Amino acid sequence: MPLTDQTVPQVVLGLETSCDETAASVVRLDRDGAVTVLSSVVGSQIAAHAPFGGVVPEIAARAHVESIDAIARQALSEAGLGFEGLTGIAATAGPGLVGGVMVGLAFGKAVALARGLPLVAVNHLEGHAVSARLGADIPYPFLLLLVSGGHCQLLVVAGVGQCRRLGSTIDDAAGEAFDKIAKTLGLPYPGGPALEALAAGGDAARYPLPRMLLGRKDCDFSFSGLKTAAARIAEGLSDADERRDLAAAVQTAIAGQLAERSDRAMAAYAVAQEGRGLRFVVAGGVAANQAVRTKLAATAQARGFSFTAPPLAYCTDNAAMIALAGAERLALGISDSLDAPARPRWPLDAQAASANPTHVPGRKGAKA
Ligand code: KG4
Ligand code: ZN
Repeated sequence: MPLTDQTVPQVVLGLETSCDETAASVVRLDRDGAVTVLSSVVGSQIAAHAPFGGVVPEIAARAHVESIDAIARQALSEAGLGFEGLTGIAATAGPGLVGGVMVGLAFGKAVALARGLPLVAVNHLEGHAVSARLGADIPYPFLLLLVSGGHCQLLVVAGVGQCRRLGSTIDDAAGEAFDKIAKTLGLPYPGGPALEALAAGGDAARYPLPRMLLGRKDCDFSFSGLKTAAARIAEGLSDADERRDLAAAVQTAIAGQLAERSDRAMAAYAVAQEGRGLRFVVAGGVAANQAVRTKLAATAQARGFSFTAPPLAYCTDNAAMIALAGAERLALGISDSLDAPARPRWPLDAQAASANPTHVPGRKGAKA
C-alpha cells in the first residue's frame, strides 16, 4: 500500500498487555508501504496461569507490571534503537482484561509524555486485522475472519479503522471452544495448540459431531452444541486412540464451520466487489492451526479469492501487530490524547454491535 503522506516513515514501539502475553515490538512502515519488524518480544505468562487451567486476571495484571519495562527495553535493544529513534508509541487500549490493558497503556502514555512522542491507543482487534500485513502486502479492502480466544467474526476491512461486521459468534469464540473442549480431554492450558498436537494422525470420522448452523443464511457462528457433544463423548473415553480421534473430529468440525461461514461471506463479498480484488485473510490465535488454515485456503481458492494467514508468530497475541496498527494511523496523521481510556469492551464495528446485541451475552455491552 504506497503512502504519499509526509508522515512516513514511521518507527513505532508497540505494547500489548490485554491478556496473558506481555509484548513489545518495534515496526517500521516506509513510504512505499513496506513493513519491517525490527524486533518482536513476547513474554508469555503461561506458566503462571497453567495451575489454574486458564487466565487469572489479577495474576495477569501483576505479571504485566513486573515485566513491561524489561520487555520494552529488550524490544528497543533488539531493534538497535533508543527512544530517540522512534516516531510514535502504540499501546493496546482494549478490548481485554482491563487490569492488564491499563498497565501497557499507562506505560505507553508515560513514554509518550517523557519523550514528546505521539500516542496511538490501539484496538487489539485492529491489531489482529492488520497482522497478516506483517508478512505480506495485502491492499485494502479485504475480507477478514478474526478467530481468537475471545473473538470469532467475519469483517470487511475497507481501510484503516474501517471495519464492517458481517457475522459473529452467538455463543463461544472458536479459540474458547478449542480451549474448553481441550480441558474436557484433560489437556493443559492453552488448549488449542495441545488439541492440535493430540489430533495429529487421528480419524476424524470416528465421532460424528453436530454441524452447527449449517445452511443458515447469515454469517454467524455457534460452538456451544459442539462443545456439549464433545464433552459427552470425552466422558466415556478410555484409551489414547479414542482421545486422538475425538480431538481430530473436534478440530475438523471447528475448521468446517469456520470454512462454511467464511464461504457464505465470500459469496456475498464477491457480489459487492463485483468480482474484483477478492482477498480473504484469517487472523488471530486459531489462525495458527494447520487444519484451519488448510480448510480456509481451499475454500478461498474455490471462490477465486487470494488467501493470506499471518506468519505463525503473529497469529497469537504479539506487539508487532499493535505497532503496525499504530504506524498506519500515525502515517495518516491520526493519534490519541494522553487521556485515552482503557476499554474492556470495544467493538470494531460499534454500529453492528449495538444494533445486534444478541450476539454478545456480556453484561456490560458489546465485547466485539
Ligand atoms: O489471538 P490470541 O493469542 O488471543 C486472543 O486475542 O484471544 O488467541 C488465543 C487463542 C486461544 O484460545 C488458543 O487456544 C488458540 O488461540 N490457539 C489455537 C492454536 N494456537 C492458539 N487454537 C487451535 N490451534 C492452534 N494451533
Ligand atoms: Zn488477540
